[in-house]
Amino acid sequence: MANDYIVKDISLADFGRKELDIAETEMPGLMALREEYGEEKPLKGARIVGSLHMTIQTACLIETLVALGADVRWASCNIFSTQDHAAAAIAAADIPVFAIKGQSLEEHWDYLDKSFMFAEGPNMILDDGGDATLYVLLGARAEAGEDIIPVPQSEEEAVIKAQIAKRMAASPGWFTKTRDAIMGVSEETTTGVHRLYELQKNGQLPFPAINVNDSVTKSKFDNKYGCKESLVDGIRRATDTMLAGKVAVVCGYGDVGKGSAASLQGAGARVKVTEADPICALQAAMDGFEVVLLEEALDADVFITTTGNKDIIRIEHMREMKDMAIVGNIGHFDNEIQVAALKNHKWTNIKDQVDMIEMPSGSRIILLSEGRLLNLGNATGHPSFVMSASFTNQVLAQIELFTKGDNYDNEVYILPKHLDEKVAALHLAKVGAKLTKLSSEQAAYIGVTPEGPFKPEHYRY
Ligand code: NAI
Repeated sequence: MANDYIVKDISLADFGRKELDIAETEMPGLMALREEYGEEKPLKGARIVGSLHMTIQTACLIETLVALGADVRWASCNIFSTQDHAAAAIAAADIPVFAIKGQSLEEHWDYLDKSFMFAEGPNMILDDGGDATLYVLLGARAEAGEDIIPVPQSEEEAVIKAQIAKRMAASPGWFTKTRDAIMGVSEETTTGVHRLYELQKNGQLPFPAINVNDSVTKSKFDNKYGCKESLVDGIRRATDTMLAGKVAVVCGYGDVGKGSAASLQGAGARVKVTEADPICALQAAMDGFEVVLLEEALDADVFITTTGNKDIIRIEHMREMKDMAIVGNIGHFDNEIQVAALKNHKWTNIKDQVDMIEMPSGSRIILLSEGRLLNLGNATGHPSFVMSASFTNQVLAQIELFTKGDNYDNEVYILPKHLDEKVAALHLAKVGAKLTKLSSEQAAYIGVTPEGPFKPEHYRY
């Protein structure tokens, strides 16, 4: 169908294509999969709903899925993360895409719905944060007359329910039929994976899922080294503030927190960390960061949440911060910062995704991306190279679920270690890394084979 897209400006397609051409030179894993599987087309017959930040890097993922035979329809998983030129390039390539930077929440769920509208219905989901999976499962529950399970981002609940009601009225039985046709889902991020394990625990997962996040070549690279580059990029593009010498607080020292703290440290900021997990707190201390309570560090200049948890920076914290403190989140959802509690304060919009908010005391904070992930809202997300590793895992997961789905139960799986090692191997040449080959005697001595896998399952990297 021609014009089967919603983008900001289709005339941005040429610019998008030029950046896509550059991205391809930085995404060796995806290009190697095109080479390896381009002729065989293992995804022929796959009709994939994609719900993932519509960036240049994602455009390269989408075109890889198409090169491997898939039909694809795409929506962004966040209202601020789309790069409009990337969406335009995908639309111009006749791939249906529904994504605009700065779309409303209503549009967000409407566009997600549109990404499901294959003539023959979808049979695969590629998710980031779990919204596409959530949409189908909540809708099917509503059709069965069951209570809709609570939605984590509560202020979105009414919008989601309205969108589900609209689809139920337009196409009775659609959610149940769609749920039953889905062969599997591959999930990109920590927060979405958390939702999948909850569904599995409650016996509510109706299809197999692959947890892409916990491939080592995803969470130990994208979450860490990706944020190391993109966090400070977002703060700088938003504020142009001098970071050297400033005090920054990073809430959470998991993979994203480690990358974020390193990002700010690299910019010359003095970094403090808050943690709830003693192991991560000890790691932060031994990496040289002061581990503090947020309440004791409210005189800092920059505050970043990275926890995937809710209510981390609360209204009482923001009221105590110094004038012009910068507040932002790089975790998946906006509920890490109590933005809703700021609604009746005075907001001054500085520019897109940057607001100055006045507290009752008269002091102001600068809030980035309304509390949504700032590296994608205020900048362009992670660089292509690290996303190549993440997305190579995504494509392998889609191939696995689509071609060998019968081998899987309705549970959450991780890709086998030999594929994780393969993803890393595909990225070595680009950085000029040379791999040492084990002799068969050496391999036997440490209990592996010279071809790998090189570590036991319990190894933590
Ligand atoms: P993680 O589980 O490795 O780390 C989160 C850390 O936060 C944990 O160590 C936990 O103990 C800590 N934490 C939880 N509650 C806390 C509290 N109240 N105070 C202080 N610390 C607390 O998760 P990961 O992989 O680091 O992901 C974090 C979030 O970032 C998730 O929502 C994930 O989906 C998202 N993400 C965002 C990316 C981006 O580009 N913006 C990239 C990858 C992940």
